[in-house]
Amino acid sequence: MNPVLTTDRLVLRPVTAHDHAGLLAHWTEPEVRRFLFDGAVPTPAQVTAIIEDSARDFASAGYGLWLIRETDGLGPVGTVALRPLDDLGLEVVYSLDPGAQGRGYATEAARAVVEYALGPLGLPEVLAEVDEGNTASAAVAARLGMTPFAVVPGLLGPMIRYRRAR
Ligand SMILES: CC(C)(COP(=O)(O)OP(=O)(O)OC[C@H]1O[C@@H](n2cnc3c(N)ncnc32)[C@H](O)[C@@H]1OP(=O)(O)O)[C@@H](O)C(=O)NCCC(=O)NCCS
Repeated sequence: MNPVLTTDRLVLRPVTAHDHAGLLAHWTEPEVRRFLFDGAVPTPAQVTAIIEDSARDFASAGYGLWLIRETDGLGPVGTVALRPLDDLGLEVVYSLDPGAQGRGYATEAARAVVEYALGPLGLPEVLAEVDEGNTASAAVAARLGMTPFAVVPGLLGPMIRYRRAR
């Protein structure tokens, strides 16, 4: 399984320790972090732990955190990840730099990851969990063909759980 994924406009590659500063800068943008970290500001140690978890999960199970780069671009424009959601399975999570939003990149990147999960990884379904107020993220989930199946309490209010089966 090759964890580097390509789409028409994007290249997704697993994060490494070299990406720490860029990830911290991306995730501390107020409009990026709000729903990803429940309103908190992620710390450098948290980012280190996320990168280490991702490296471990890619090595053992073929999934983790990918950086999104434009095919003809230089630096990353966002992230997409597969990670466990409670004991239900894996959820897809995505984020874009504010300057890269509104171009369909999150949907394009997340679609590639969902297809990878349901195809080469062999998962029976992929989940997503979206804060009720996060309309941009809910729109991505809908464009991915995911359907809501539960509402659970979250720190910022209700969260909608979505799934897409193989
Ligand atoms: C969630 C998030 C990634 C969505 O970003 P986004 O840019 O709205 O989503 P997409 O990249 O799929 O882009 C879709 C938009 O691009 C537009 N678009 C423009 N050109 C396009 C193209 N060539 N192809 C597809 N869509 C295009 C679409 O019409 C749509 O616009 P609309 O929302 O006005 O209808 C972004 O809001 C974000 O990073 N939020 C912070 C992190 C976060 O909350 N993540 C979710 C946690 S669950």
